[in-house]
Amino acid sequence: MSAVRIAQISDLHFGRDVPQVARALLAELREAAPTLVAVCGDLTQTARAAEFRAARAFLDELPAPALVVPGNHDLPGWRVWSRFARPWRRWRSHIGTDPLGATVHTAAGLVAVGVNTARRWTFHTDWSRGRVDAAQLAAIVSAFEAAPAGALRVVVAHHPFLLTGPGRRRGLVGRSALALRSLHRRADLLLGGHVHLAYSGTAGGLVVAQSGTALSSRLKGEPNSYNLIEADGDRLTVTNRRFDGDRFATHERTGYARDGHTWTAAGA
Ligand SMILES: [Fe+2]
Ligand SMILES: [Fe+2]
Repeated sequence: MSAVRIAQISDLHFGRDVPQVARALLAELREAAPTLVAVCGDLTQTARAAEFRAARAFLDELPAPALVVPGNHDLPGWRVWSRFARPWRRWRSHIGTDPLGATVHTAAGLVAVGVNTARRWTFHTDWSRGRVDAAQLAAIVSAFEAAPAGALRVVVAHHPFLLTGPGRRRGLVGRSALALRSLHRRADLLLGGHVHLAYSGTAGGLVVAQSGTALSSRLKGEPNSYNLIEADGDRLTVTNRRFDGDRFATHERTGYARDGHTWTAAGA
């Protein structure tokens, strides 16, 4: 596996974004020079056209290719006709990816697959919850089966595959257990957002990294942040970089090591 550096940003929430933080994040990312920027959804606050235009302008300034997936806030909230009849119209016209398919990004030493876990409605009373379905898992597995040996295999989604600490009361992505079984030995890293809390850990032998809200003023007890993920061979580190009021600085670094197909926590 050649060295890979991924900037994981999430929950941008244009409409409730803090412009000073956006400027600092773009400067930070230019400095970090990532291989890929993984954008884990909730680009907007209420899926309005002006918010999508602001999100598009931000994406256009990123200094690296971006793999972008939607979040639940990128669906028209209670604009019922739009939500059911044409839920992704604005996403398609502004962001340009197909939210019903899987988006695959390949680079040296890296295969990343983005899937949309936001749903127009769910059986759960909380429609902000999401799920991953069998067709999406099949698309992920098939992209990873075609990956060159040793490539880092990354899933980019919005809803979390792991909950810890203060985020425990939130819901996991629907069918997370099925996903972890399907991806065991086939994937390395699952990226998510949604809970506005940054943490990482392992689940089913995979590394799960959650990024906090990069730009939103709706904080859930911790500052704006993003993750810088560096992988080289059987080692991977997740560095959480927090906004300190002026710039982004390292808050926490967590290391992982792979033995065979299984990732476990290791010294950073
Ligand atoms: Fe969010
Ligand atoms: Fe969300």
